[in-house]
Amino acid sequence: MAEQVQKPIIFSGIQPSGQMHLGVFLGALRNWVRLQETHDCIYCVVDLHAVTVRQDPADFAARCLSFVALYLAAGIDPRTSTIFLQSQVSAHAELAWLLNCHAYMGELSRMTQFKEKTEGKGEKSIGVGIFDYPVLMAADILLYQTNLVPVGADQKQHLELTRDIAVRMNNLYADLFVVPEPYIAPVAARVMSLQEPAKKMSKSDANMNNVIGVLDEPDIIRRKIRKAVMDSTVGITYEPETRPGVANLLTIFGALCDETPQTVAARYENSGNAALKNDLAELVVEKLAPFQTRYHDLMTDRAYLLDVLHQGAEAARQRAVPTLRAAYTRMGFLVP
Ligand code: TYM
Repeated sequence: MAEQVQKPIIFSGIQPSGQMHLGVFLGALRNWVRLQETHDCIYCVVDLHAVTVRQDPADFAARCLSFVALYLAAGIDPRTSTIFLQSQVSAHAELAWLLNCHAYMGELSRMTQFKEKTEGKGEKSIGVGIFDYPVLMAADILLYQTNLVPVGADQKQHLELTRDIAVRMNNLYADLFVVPEPYIAPVAARVMSLQEPAKKMSKSDANMNNVIGVLDEPDIIRRKIRKAVMDSTVGITYEPETRPGVANLLTIFGALCDETPQTVAARYENSGNAALKNDLAELVVEKLAPFQTRYHDLMTDRAYLLDVLHQGAEAARQRAVPTLRAAYTRMGFLVP
C-alpha cells in the first residue's frame, strides 16, 4: 500500500478589526485559498488580537462572524481546512503565557508595528496587549507545529520573532516546536494606501478613500480608484521608488489578473492615467462581484457559520492540546 504523505502544515490569521480590504485579500486571503490544495491548512479569525485596541462589544461578535463568512466566500473550504475563532481554543492564551516567560522586552520593543501603532503615545496610554501581541501570534503558530505561515510583508518581523522564540525554547525543552517559515507571495505582499502610497493600506485608516473594502459597492470602488494619487509623468511605468502611486495601482492590477506589474505597465505604456484607472476599477469590480455575492448569501445562514466555527474549534483543540501538554510537561508542570 502506498505510504500516505503528510502535507506541510499552514497556519494563518486575520484580525477582525475594521473592514477587510484589498490589501488583506490580495496579500493574504487569496494565497490561503490557493495553498489549500497542497497543504494542511488551519485558518483562524484572531479575535483575541483584535481587542488589543478597544472594540465595541455590541458589534464585535457580529464582525467576527462576518469575517468567517469572508473566509468562506473567498474560497476557504471547511471540509478541507480548519476555520475557527482564536478565543474558542483556550490553548492559544495558555501557550502565549508560557512563551511570554521566554520573550524579552527588548525584542518586543523593536517590533516596527508596535512602534507605528503607538507612535506619539505616552507609556501610560500604551496597552500591554499591543506590546505583547506578537507573542500571542507566536503561540498561534507554534501550537500547531506549523511549517509555513502565509502573510503579507508587514508580518515578516513577527515571524522572525516567532522563530527566535521557537529556537530558544527548543534549546531549553528538547525540540518542542517546528520552526516555521514565512510564505510571502511575490506580488501584492504590500498593497499601499490609495491617497498616501508611501504607507500601506490599513484596516485602521480613518480616511476611507485610502482603502478599497472588499465589500465596497461598485460605484464606491470606481470613485476611490478615480481619486487615487498618481503623478504627472507622461506614460505608465512601474517604478515603485519614484512613482509609488502608479506602482501601487499596477500591483493591484497585476495581482488581480495574475500578471506582474511590469507586464501591466508595458500594456499601458502609452496610455494616460485615466485609462489605467478606469480599467483597474472595472477589473476590481468584476473580480470582487462573485465574492461579494457569496458573502451576502453566507451571511443569511448564521446557523451554518456557527456550525463551521463549532467544528473548527473542535478540530483545532484536538490538534493544539498535545503541543500545549508537551510544553507544560517539559517545563516541569504537574500535568494531570
Ligand atoms: P492583519 O489582520 O493586520 O492582516 C491580515 C493579513 O493581511 C496582510 N495584510 C496585507 N498584505 C498586503 N498589503 C497590505 N496592505 C496588507 N495589510 C494586511 C497581513 O500581512 C496579514 O497576513 N498579526 C496578524 C494576525 C495574526 C497572524 C497570526 C498571522 C495573528 N496571529 C498567526 C499569521 C499567523 C495581523 O495583525 O494581521
